[in-house]
Amino acid sequence: MDVMDPGAKSSPIQDPDWDSALQFLPAADSRPLEKRPGGRRLWLGLGLLLCALLLVLLTTVLVWHFHLRSDVRVKKTYIGSMGIADQRFLTTHEDPTSLEFRRLAALVAKQLKLLYSKNSELSKYFLESTVQAFSEGDGSGREGVVAYYQSEFQVPVQRKDLLDEAIKSLEKTEVDQPGRHGRLLLKPQDALNVRSVVSGALDPRMATPTFIAQKVFTLHVRKEGMLQSPGFPDSPYPPNTYLQWRLRAQPRHRVQLVFHTFILEENCQRDFIKIYDSLAPIEHRMLTEKCGYPHEPMVFLTSGNVMLLTLVTSAEKNFPGFRASYSQIPITNDTCGGKLSGRNGSFTSPFFPANYPPAASCVWDIQVPMGNFLKVQFTSFSVSGPGQKGSCTRDYVEVHRQSSSSRLCGSRPDSTVVSSRSNQMTVRFKSDSSYVDAGFSAIYEAFVPTDPCPGRFPCLNNMCVNISLQCDGWDDCGDDSDEENCQCQASQMRCRNGHCKPQFWKCDGVDDCGDNTDEENCGQCGAGLVQCPDGLCVPDKLHCDQKHCHTADHAHCKNALQVQTCTPHTHKCRSGRCITKLNPECDGEDDCDDNSDEENCACGVRPYRSSRIVGGQTSREGEWPWQVSLHFRGKGHTCGASVLSDRWLLTAAHCVQEAAGYSKEDQWEAFLGLHIQNQVNQWTVKKNIRRIIRHPDYDPPTYNNDLALMELDGPVALNQNIWPICLPSATHHFPAGSAAWITGWGTTREGGFTAAILQKAEVRLVNQTVCSSLLEGQITEVMLCAGVLKGGVDACQGDSGGPLTVMAPSGRSFLAGVVSWGDGCARRNKPGVYVRITRYRDWIRDQSGL
Ligand code: ARG
Repeated sequence: MDVMDPGAKSSPIQDPDWDSALQFLPAADSRPLEKRPGGRRLWLGLGLLLCALLLVLLTTVLVWHFHLRSDVRVKKTYIGSMGIADQRFLTTHEDPTSLEFRRLAALVAKQLKLLYSKNSELSKYFLESTVQAFSEGDGSGREGVVAYYQSEFQVPVQRKDLLDEAIKSLEKTEVDQPGRHGRLLLKPQDALNVRSVVSGALDPRMATPTFIAQKVFTLHVRKEGMLQSPGFPDSPYPPNTYLQWRLRAQPRHRVQLVFHTFILEENCQRDFIKIYDSLAPIEHRMLTEKCGYPHEPMVFLTSGNVMLLTLVTSAEKNFPGFRASYSQIPITNDTCGGKLSGRNGSFTSPFFPANYPPAASCVWDIQVPMGNFLKVQFTSFSVSGPGQKGSCTRDYVEVHRQSSSSRLCGSRPDSTVVSSRSNQMTVRFKSDSSYVDAGFSAIYEAFVPTDPCPGRFPCLNNMCVNISLQCDGWDDCGDDSDEENCQCQASQMRCRNGHCKPQFWKCDGVDDCGDNTDEENCGQCGAGLVQCPDGLCVPDKLHCDQKHCHTADHAHCKNALQVQTCTPHTHKCRSGRCITKLNPECDGEDDCDDNSDEENCACGVRPYRSSRIVGGQTSREGEWPWQVSLHFRGKGHTCGASVLSDRWLLTAAHCVQEAAGYSKEDQWEAFLGLHIQNQVNQWTVKKNIRRIIRHPDYDPPTYNNDLALMELDGPVALNQNIWPICLPSATHHFPAGSAAWITGWGTTREGGFTAAILQKAEVRLVNQTVCSSLLEGQITEVMLCAGVLKGGVDACQGDSGGPLTVMAPSGRSFLAGVVSWGDGCARRNKPGVYVRITRYRDWIRDQSGL
């Protein structure tokens, strides 16, 4: 297609078709139109001038209207809280209709008016204040009552920012006048003894007038309980709604909120929750804003005895919402910090792994026996706050050793070690009044100055790693210091930067050296040419035409092209014709002429969408709706399985071997939609098994063909926690190196205990040849390897039969493998072995009709 050049728009004069194709209608009386050409030009000129003048006038009026005219006003809403000293909190203050509430509210409104009257900006534009709630003060006696209010102003547009500043300055009054014992402007006419004021502009998304429902729930958390979004779990939460939950604890207690399920729309602009360390939505008291499907811990704590949870929803109605439990925790002085001694020990940020509370301050004084040095290793570290870059001014950890100190903040995925050249160190943790995070966990250890890592290799960053890990090609220290100045062995290649890496990492598409040396000179083709899998170099354009490159790997061929000969690299449509496109199944485009590539696609996505594991993490409920727990009579959870449809499950054949009755259907129960073992909920379905079909060629000694189908004794109703995974076609290509997820309740370490909550871990698909050499020839071509070769992440006992899930670019999950076997669990250079599902596509269809 030609693209039209904007500089050459077609005009009647240039268009050759113009005069021949179009005819003007004759004017009824053509005489008045026949003016002298000169006069016509004059009128035209005058007309144009008039238009220009009008335009200038209009622009001026608009500019004046919006920028200069001082009486164009907008409404601004500020939310605030006020600490009051000389009032006592009464239970009737919780009821806005009570006399006591109204009396105190009137005093607060009067006092606010007085406060605003001291500032010319505020006094000029102030409209009114309304009090929304009261809470007990902090219990220290300094503040008896806290009032939460909303103040409205009508301000000229161009003075909006000045108003913001004036509001901010109210907060400073207290800090700036310490001589007044923290008291704000007490004058004879004052109604109240005000100790503090906190206020800020309301989030505009919470001021939209389109809400059809607004509601406030007031809850006491002294008795534990549950709260949930309306309709949960049976129906999606209502649209266009603004809800508030005001949670109160007893004085000197914190409010704790734990989310068990949380599924909102992924776009935070429209659907979100916010949690505040206050009873009113004051933005700089906000602890968090969440939407979608968060993976981080959803446990929140306040600094005082109140919390506000808000939910704002958009016009769309699709998502289940949330359920959370609330409770209170006494505020004690020993929440964190203190003196630590001995040769080693550990400490964490308050309430780790829950989010730390705001306004926390902890100091740990660590002292190890004299004559030793001391090091602290942060094994997990997430201390952030938006807008906090390298400066660490909001929430941070501060380490003091000798006479120096340094601050840490942000997220640190790898261990961080700090050490002291003496036997002591002080670690401080501070969080400010907004935005919380998961915090940190740390271990400390004494070491002898002359030998910081007895029997181990000392990294430059003060970590210690096993001697055998030195120069093995892996960055075990985290700073590469164990891989520097190495003598490469015969099985290794030497990178330009001096590192040694295993030979088999050469040309695998990953820059292992760090300077790309291992990926240079891999293809022999020059510029503009691509290499066919058989080594031939062809021009890029001809690569997918099936003539020049007979074995084209169709990762390169984006368009579906129908071809004469089907190959292992083409996709076979139901019609029997083949197309060249990498993994066309359920990718949202009709590629086959019979559209069979887009059939049976209700799989592999969570129905709500915006939208035994070692080294894994806890998954969220409903995150893996195809995961099944197979319970064997008298033994509980025994194996995993995947949901293929409302009738069929897929598992490993070794789970259902003849021995000890494992092949008997009536000995098994399948738990679908399960999250925590022994905790069924409204989405969990327990099913009996009608039929087990073990692969006829399953070979126990070699685990070859380790696959079995299970037919349920009746169809299961799919729900948000029960949903099939997509089966890949026989020619689906899962490239080595791509990311995949394993899930299960198996043991969390070799020889350890099984997990109660479903675990997940990310692994990578491993090249077949590499895997075969790592596992000494035990790998057949119907097996697939995946893992983290560095070790530490793998499936383990009890995960068998469960899914190895790969997410396609379309966001759909495909079943690449079924957990089968491994050499121990999570050992270095010992990836897990899975059943290669593409090899069994036809067998599954023949047996189950799927
Ligand atoms: N066979 C084991 C089971 O029955 C699963 C082994 C998986 N092992 C591994 N390292 N990936 O649960």
